[in-house]
Amino acid sequence: MRILLTASLWLCIACAHAADYSAAPSTSGKPAWAGVPDVRRAWQDWTLNCQGCHRPDGDGSPATAPKLAGEVAKFLWVPGGREYLGRVPGIASSPLSDEQLRQVVNWMLWRFDARDVPANFVPYTAREIGTLRVHPMRIGMSALRRKLLRTVRAAGAPAS
Ligand code: HEC
Repeated sequence: MRILLTASLWLCIACAHAADYSAAPSTSGKPAWAGVPDVRRAWQDWTLNCQGCHRPDGDGSPATAPKLAGEVAKFLWVPGGREYLGRVPGIASSPLSDEQLRQVVNWMLWRFDARDVPANFVPYTAREIGTLRVHPMRIGMSALRRKLLRTVRAAGAPAS
């Protein structure tokens, strides 16, 4: 019985989101899904490992996690932001392999904030993610986050 219930639950989750896992917001001509050879798998990994806190649409909630939708790629605008995204605890400490994780991170950028991905964005590789996650951020993370966001606001979008 429990197996049946679990199976139908997953089926419902799959149905509810099957339609939108591969729909990136407008990319303004940028190559959506660069660095995500398996979009469906990346979405599944997101569903199982990230969306519980960040919500399916990346909207987050004050109680659990910050909003990624329309925001997350802005970290790529400023020095240190790229590294920050590879070192936040939810990413660095996830049980996913380096290869799965780099696809989830690239997928997340396209899926939730394609508009803000810089035109010269080079997708994360498994090797880069593997190097960054060795040093998950702990102490001083909130201060660094605030500093990066201040710099983002001051810098504005890079010219493309
Ligand atoms: C247990 C809840 C939780 C899970 C699971 C989780 N996160 Fe997070 N995430 C957070 C919180 C809370 C923050 C804010 C930084 C902090 O306090 O760790 C955060 C920060 C982030 C950030 C930086 C955004 C910002 O505005 O600072 C990104 C990007 C991110 N998470 C992506 C992911 C991805 C991708 C996964 C899955 C691999 C994931 N998270 C899993 C809770 C979570």
